[in-house]
Amino acid sequence: MTARRSILVTGASSGIGRALALAHAAPGIRLALIGRDAGRLAAVAAEARERGARVDAGRVDVRDRIAMAAWIAATDAEVPFDLVIANAGITTGLAPDQLMEAPEAVRAIIATNLLGVLNTVEPLIAPMCERGSGQIALIGSLAGLHGLPYCPAYCITKAGVHAYAEALRGRLERRGVIVSLVVAGFVKTPLNDSITAMKPGEISDAQAAAVIKRGLEKGRAVIPFPWFLYILTVLGRLIPSRLYDRIMAGVDVTVPTTGERAALGGEDQTGRQTSGMKR
Ligand SMILES: NC(=O)c1ccc[n+]([C@@H]2O[C@H](COP(=O)([O-])OP(=O)(O)OC[C@H]3O[C@@H](n4cnc5c(N)ncnc54)[C@H](OP(=O)(O)O)[C@@H]3O)[C@@H](O)[C@H]2O)c1
Repeated sequence: MTARRSILVTGASSGIGRALALAHAAPGIRLALIGRDAGRLAAVAAEARERGARVDAGRVDVRDRIAMAAWIAATDAEVPFDLVIANAGITTGLAPDQLMEAPEAVRAIIATNLLGVLNTVEPLIAPMCERGSGQIALIGSLAGLHGLPYCPAYCITKAGVHAYAEALRGRLERRGVIVSLVVAGFVKTPLNDSITAMKPGEISDAQAAAVIKRGLEKGRAVIPFPWFLYILTVLGRLIPSRLYDRIMAGVDVTVPTTGERAALGGEDQTGRQTSGMKR
């Protein structure tokens, strides 16, 4: 794979996205970083600049298709992206005694984790195909491999991301655009910290970023980690469904409800003009 020049990361203000941005930050690299929290985004941008990268930081909500398309088109026109990492995401779920997830939280997570991924990737499909090069990385999850009773909506979104990655790969790789799906296990981040559960194989965000970066550089179609949990989850699909349900019923997990966060003020949504954090 040729050396990277320009990388877009969504959800770069925290956790895995922040670690991925910093892992790629180096002289000769332009990073375009999307998040919503101005302070955290500015801090990541400053750290990446200290490592020698040029940084464009945009406070853009991934749920806002029009703002995303405008910001991505403008930053792609400056230094064409050779890698986009659709990472931004939230979680929501249930305590063991709850019957169903809050409908607003379900809509919020679908808007962020699923539509937000489309809003990130769609603006770059045609430009990358025209250039006959580029890489699209989507951050999935072990929860995308099998429905989990304590976070149904999260599973919907990640299963959707997995299906989308597989479908894109079949179409775009013929045109020179690589599509990589990351199937992530437990990574210590604020999102993951909000969940009460056993977290086998948990790693730090920096370790996860290193694994993901290596897999992306090799152009892998699927980048799963940790391997033991990935294989167990894949094998879990082969055992009788009711047996799987019984096993999962014995696992004690609480995932908090994540509501819709307040939308940004109008002028911030345009990102590029208002970020004040560029370069
Ligand atoms: N941590 C894990 O164990 C784990 C496992 C499997 C998969 N994943 C996936 O990895 C990805 C990153 O998660 P993380 O654990 O690093 O979580 P995190 O630390 O909470 O970071 C989430 C990032 O997404 C951004 N974000 C959320 N909603 C957004 C929106 N509407 N518009 C723009 N940015 C938005 C946040 O930015 P602001 O706060 O600035 O809005 C933040 O930068 C997610 O897709 C998650 O599902 C995580």
